[in-house]
Amino acid sequence: RPMDLHDAAKLLGQARHVVVFTGAGISAESGVPTFRDALTGLWSRFDAQALATPQAFEEDPALVWGWYEWRRQLAQRVRPNHGHLAVARMAAHAPELTVLTQNVDDLHERAGSSSVTHLHGSLFAPRCATCTRAAELPDSAEEQPDDGRRVPPPHCRYCDGLIRPGVVWFGEALPQEALEAAAVAASTCDVLLTVGTSGLVYPAAEIPRLAARYGAAVIQVNPQPTPLDPVARVNLHGTAAEVLPALVSAAWSDAG
Ligand code: APR
Repeated sequence: RPMDLHDAAKLLGQARHVVVFTGAGISAESGVPTFRDALTGLWSRFDAQALATPQAFEEDPALVWGWYEWRRQLAQRVRPNHGHLAVARMAAHAPELTVLTQNVDDLHERAGSSSVTHLHGSLFAPRCATCTRAAELPDSAEEQPDDGRRVPPPHCRYCDGLIRPGVVWFGEALPQEALEAAAVAASTCDVLLTVGTSGLVYPAAEIPRLAARYGAAVIQVNPQPTPLDPVARVNLHGTAAEVLPALVSAAWSDAG
């Protein structure tokens, strides 16, 4: 019989160190679009090359800044869902818990998870493209930039360079300390729970594979099959907001 929620709960409940590795799918039920879902995915609606590369920012900083402001203000308008809340509840039960996310929203933090490692940066950490100093978030301008409006980026108060989104663009290196922390956690954990990622974008997609190579049990939560299916010991075909609360309650029956 295929492994199911009961098997996943047993693995989770017995784990000393649990890593939770999340992608855009965990924020989908909050109303944040994923990237590769057909029709609704951002890369089905927008051109990644024109919006999510250093060249794009070089070429048209206002278009790129405006688009990320649209995404940031969308992220601020939505709320964490039961999937984020279940991940936050794990901290009270797993002896050691590491939350690694590819997401640039702050929904894990707003659900109560502390020390979330952002492998692809954050919409809430803009920085100067020249001197790299952190910049303040613009106060949420009353008019909501729509997804296509150009908004000129602010200038750095120190060097007058352009402020850029604090996210990792295609072709850019991931933050070194985040990647190292993720590799250490993945290679020392007992269970890695991968939620809502297509497992297509490297080097982040290496993390669940690394965990499996070091003997961790990988549990996947995703309504669709992904290239991570063969890596997972248990594949739970469902959504984050449906599966995660049930999984946490079953793993630590007092989890409530
Ligand atoms: N619950 C769980 N998973 C879901 C849900 C849901 N409600 N809805 C969709 N999914 C799954 C999809 O089936 C898909 O496998 O979430 C996954 C989302 O995949 P992507 O859209 O590719 O997002 P992600 O894997 O996070 O992308 C990785 O690509 O564009 C870059 O930097 C960007 O961090 C991003 C990276």
